[in-house]
Amino acid sequence: MNISNPLRIPPHAVQPNLSPLPRIRNIIAIGSGKGGVGKSTTATNLAVALADLGARVGLLDADIYGPSIPTMLGLSGRPDSPDGKSIVPMQAHGVETMSIGFLVEQDTPMIWRGPMATSALTQLLNETRWGGDGDEGLDILVVDLPPGTGDIQLTLAQKIPVAGAVIVTTPQDVATLDARKALKMFEKVEVPVLGLIENMAQHVCSNCGHVEHLFGSGGGERMAATYGLPLLGSLPLEIAIREQGDAGVPLVRSNPESPAAEAYRNVARRLLEELEKRPRLRGGIGASLV
Ligand SMILES: Nc1ncnc2c1ncn2[C@@H]1O[C@H](COP(=O)(O)OP(=O)(O)OP(=O)(O)O)[C@@H](O)[C@H]1O
Ligand SMILES: [Mg+2]
Ligand SMILES: [Zn+2]
Repeated sequence: MNISNPLRIPPHAVQPNLSPLPRIRNIIAIGSGKGGVGKSTTATNLAVALADLGARVGLLDADIYGPSIPTMLGLSGRPDSPDGKSIVPMQAHGVETMSIGFLVEQDTPMIWRGPMATSALTQLLNETRWGGDGDEGLDILVVDLPPGTGDIQLTLAQKIPVAGAVIVTTPQDVATLDARKALKMFEKVEVPVLGLIENMAQHVCSNCGHVEHLFGSGGGERMAATYGLPLLGSLPLEIAIREQGDAGVPLVRSNPESPAAEAYRNVARRLLEELEKRPRLRGGIGASLV
């Protein structure tokens, strides 16, 4: 970790009809057109990588259908609420985190009606004491949205004041065009898409390390070019990524010297470059509009 050299990231513009949150300079939503593309794994490793670059980072698990961030960060138990109103986020691997999974029984299938789910989540976002008790706040809050592009996803994209979104895809999506649905959803609610992340792009053999492009190479690049978006990076399909996720230690933390960890850090750097191109807000953490 890079605590000796903190990275202060200024706040950037959010949707025109929303106000930025007082303790969070930038919210980045992670979306996908469909489930199972590795969105939560990517969000978790990306959050840890951003923290390693020196940013103060939070990770909000907004996936009410299957909250998986607690497992991926190796957290259990309940967060504290000293004043009975606000909640202190949990901490793991240099990242502050909050999940609906901390507040309901594990293994309880979450059957929420839309309005219930979205209000529970906006409450979780607003009532968590992000960024500690001082006036430092968070540089970045990564939000793992529920997969897909239904009403709940749309409402969240509409209600959370985000600086930008990132879409996670797999090479198969190139054919199915699922990522395109996510792109359309964000466009509809005026959320700028900062880029695409291609996950499971190539297979790295755990025996000999040889690389195979299961679905052909260059799919992520072609897709990004088609949509006119930056490709923030291509991440390998690697057993260690799944194993470490299951074990509660993200690969970026467990195998920091591995090429896959370097790939996540490169995605984090590219994301910050794209964020920097967005219009800035003026002021302290609570940033008012310019
Ligand atoms: N790059 C990768 N290499 C190997 N396994 C991966 C990779 N990315 C994700 N996985 C594995 O694939 C499975 C699905 O990943 P994950 O839960 O992150 O997807 P998701 O898009 O968040 O799914 P859901 O739609 O259920 O929320 C997990 O078992 C995870 O460990
Ligand atoms: Mg998930
Ligand atoms: Zn091999």
